[in-house]
Amino acid sequence: MRMSKTSNDILKLIEADASADVGSAFTALAAEYLEQTRDRGTRVSTAHTPQSLSERFDEPLPRNAHSIDSIIERLRTEVIPDSNHLYHPRYVGHQVSAPLPAAIWTEALTAALNQSVAVFEMSPVGTVLEHRVIRWMCELAGYGPSSGGTMTTGGTEAIFTALLAARGASMPDAWTDGVGADPPVLVCGEHAHYAVTRAAGELGLGMRSVLPIPSRNHTMDVAALRQTLESLQREKKRVMAVVATAGSTATGSFDDIAAIAAVCDGFGVWLHVDAAHGGSALLSSTHKHRMAGIERARSLAWDPHKMMLLPLQAGMVLVREERDIDAAFSQRAPYLFHAAEGERVWDQGTRSFLCSHRADVFKMWVALQRYGAEGLGALYDHLCEQACGMWREIGQRPDFEAMHEPQSNILCFRYVGDRSRNDQALDQLNRELRERYNKSGEGWITATNLDGRRVLRVTIMNPRTTADDLRAVLDGLARTARTL
Ligand SMILES: Cc1ncc(COP(=O)(O)O)c(C=O)c1O
Repeated sequence: MRMSKTSNDILKLIEADASADVGSAFTALAAEYLEQTRDRGTRVSTAHTPQSLSERFDEPLPRNAHSIDSIIERLRTEVIPDSNHLYHPRYVGHQVSAPLPAAIWTEALTAALNQSVAVFEMSPVGTVLEHRVIRWMCELAGYGPSSGGTMTTGGTEAIFTALLAARGASMPDAWTDGVGADPPVLVCGEHAHYAVTRAAGELGLGMRSVLPIPSRNHTMDVAALRQTLESLQREKKRVMAVVATAGSTATGSFDDIAAIAAVCDGFGVWLHVDAAHGGSALLSSTHKHRMAGIERARSLAWDPHKMMLLPLQAGMVLVREERDIDAAFSQRAPYLFHAAEGERVWDQGTRSFLCSHRADVFKMWVALQRYGAEGLGALYDHLCEQACGMWREIGQRPDFEAMHEPQSNILCFRYVGDRSRNDQALDQLNRELRERYNKSGEGWITATNLDGRRVLRVTIMNPRTTADDLRAVLDGLARTARTL
């Protein structure tokens, strides 16, 4: 039903929409989705193409108001069914979570309050809570009282921020003068997330300045790192930072942070750890050993929207010395930032790329209050245990082959059938298999290239996923493969 659009009408609509009834209708819709996805018989994902979905929404700009009921109905019938159902127990695809319910419900309040954490005066409680949460996380990382950081939109921004701070330490004049013709080198594992090389491009170092270190068992070869730093030293080449990975994207493997930190200390090089995926191991008594040595890193990227199962978006960058990140953004904005010389800077805008800065901290604070750090650690263990269980199951099946033993909740494997095909044929088969299986709607997995082979990959980010679900995914894949 269309309505007229005088300002008076709109003001009435806004007041009507501000009621608990309308709010509850949206919440009820989300809860309906959470309920429906318990049914394993429902589709995990859509079979529609981008073209057919775009036809559904191919309509003129809505010039007049529609009833809230009609909009909710469209969300129910046109948006939810063909979205990816990350809450379905057999969605084991990308590293995006089935988010914690208490954090989901907090999102409405975050939007209602609409605080910008960039400046204390715009978000008094939000700013203080962000400092509180950052301090808790710094303590988990073993950082001392002079550490700090900020929440980010995710790992990509966290890595970019940390490397900007590293650039500031290595080239204090680069902010004003640029990096010049002979920029320093950035060293990272060959398995590093593309956000690292992207940052090198964005920071003006250029992709040519990135030196990848080969991997051994999908983690950085520390001996090769040492040799690389030695030869760079002989060539008198400056090194801006070494980036290690804790929970790599492809296999969820952890670099040996303590050994890498020892090498970096020996050369006086900034160590950044990309723990976007694996940082939450710090919450787990079983897995925190994988982060051993993290307190020696100068900076750390850690995404609560990954293994702390927060809804998008919630990232974090932590630095051992808060002044490093403050120095990185040496800008003044007198209309916003008012701290006097020597005063503690509460405004997070002084240490962030963002000006408007959403108070994602609210959902993080709620999740920590509701489930507790130990509860979230237990959840981390549970998700990793599911991946291990799947790995053991694959070990007992002749038609599949695991590519590695999981160190977290990610597992790469491939279908090998009766083992009569060569590697090229298996690459093609696994490529088609993933596509065909995902279209079936009974489950949803990802794929990657690993050690020169096309392989299947699962990431278990859903507390509902059970061993039976993972067995069903393997059965479904095998059934699909036999039709190819
Ligand atoms: C290891 C690693 N680092 C960084 C990122 C980028 O994080 P985001 O997507 O939050 O920007 C990812 C994303 O998957 C990742 O796996």
